Amino acid sequence: MNMPIVRTDAAGRGESDLANSERNGVSTEPGQSIIGTDDLILVTGASGFIGARVVESLLNLGFRNLRCFARASSKAVGAEAFGERSRRAARIEVKRGNLLSGEDCAAATKDVKVIFHLAAGRGEKSFPDAFMNSVVTTRNLLEASLRHQCLKRFVNVSSFTVYANAQRPWRSLLDESCPVETRPELRGEAYCYAKVKQDEIVVDYGKRLGIPYIIIRPGYVYGPGKQAITGRVGIDTFGVFLHLGGSNTIPFTYVDNCAEAVALAGLRKGVDGEVFNVVDDDLPSSRQFLRLYKRNVRQFKSLYLPHFVSYALCSLWERYATWSAEQLPPAFNRRKWYTYWKKTGYSNEKLKTLVGWTPRVPMAEGLKRYFEGCRNGKQHA
Ligand SMILES: NC(=O)c1ccc[n+]([C@@H]2O[C@H](COP(=O)([O-])OP(=O)(O)OC[C@H]3O[C@@H](n4cnc5c(N)ncnc54)[C@H](OP(=O)(O)O)[C@@H]3O)[C@@H](O)[C@H]2O)c1
Repeated sequence: MNMPIVRTDAAGRGESDLANSERNGVSTEPGQSIIGTDDLILVTGASGFIGARVVESLLNLGFRNLRCFARASSKAVGAEAFGERSRRAARIEVKRGNLLSGEDCAAATKDVKVIFHLAAGRGEKSFPDAFMNSVVTTRNLLEASLRHQCLKRFVNVSSFTVYANAQRPWRSLLDESCPVETRPELRGEAYCYAKVKQDEIVVDYGKRLGIPYIIIRPGYVYGPGKQAITGRVGIDTFGVFLHLGGSNTIPFTYVDNCAEAVALAGLRKGVDGEVFNVVDDDLPSSRQFLRLYKRNVRQFKSLYLPHFVSYALCSLWERYATWSAEQLPPAFNRRKWYTYWKKTGYSNEKLKTLVGWTPRVPMAEGLKRYFEGCRNGKQHA
């Protein structure tokens, strides 16, 4: 039987006990969830920056049967990390393993009704590393879930990085209809390549083998535990911070808001096959963010490069990389510029309309917590 999505607080109180003021943004309509609150949910990447918050969001929504998957080398996860809360919840099972192993995937997906797939290679090391930990792992999970034949949804966490922003007009609004990179290898980023391929494989399994799925694409997820300034604002290089964003809007989403969006969309009835972008409201410009960061975290020198200059430099770099047969790696190129530094607006309308999500942590509060985390040197494992 389908159960309503019911949000409970840390003390396990149900929706009816919660004050009206706490209800904003969370759907509690009966019959809106594809599963019951006792059905088994798998969260991969459960020890990660967003995954740990997704586990928390699912607990807040009243789901009581969670399997958290993490590698043996990962830090505390699930029951180990949620301590008191997990003891109150009916069951949080921590499964250690590697999604590169078919056997581990089979064990992880057994009896699972919904998979929240957040595990991914960070793409920092190499293309093979990103491909293995984002694409091969995804395929292994999909294959394993086919064996058990009980999956109601595969929730694939993708990224804004897959969007190709080249052909669209300056200042246009990026939403789910924006085209995805068709030649992601030309972006020169292992992460982008792997996320595009990951999405493709999910859609393919959905079409060919009937696995119900949704794709969720967060913008830049920030919050305590993240120290870095997003490259959309600028890059620290040659001893100076090059400010590239200028008046561009930065597609931030606070980690708790993003996790709640993932949890709500992932369980929502009637959205199979849909793609959802996740960004918060009241997005700051790059310039506003940088000013606040300097005021609240640390002072440093930055040099603003106007858009036409950064575009010319990217174009020059790309040409030289091609001419020199990649003696200089194609780390900067026009595709990258279109994605990160072209003037663009962002929409979260679809998520609000179809899922009923609203970002519960306002931008000012999110930034306050993030800056505090940066000052204290708080780093996610
Ligand atoms: N952070 C962002 O700004 C952002 C934005 C858009 C989309 N996303 C997407 O959101 C998802 C979560 O991101 P995040 O920031 O939470 O990443 P994260 O902190 O790096 O977590 C990723 C998790 O995946 C696990 N993992 C990687 N390879 C694995 C494997 N072979 N087997 C099992 N687990 C494996 C890692 O385990 P270990 O701890 O053992 O390494 C880690 O816990 C990813 O799909 C990412 O692409 C993130």
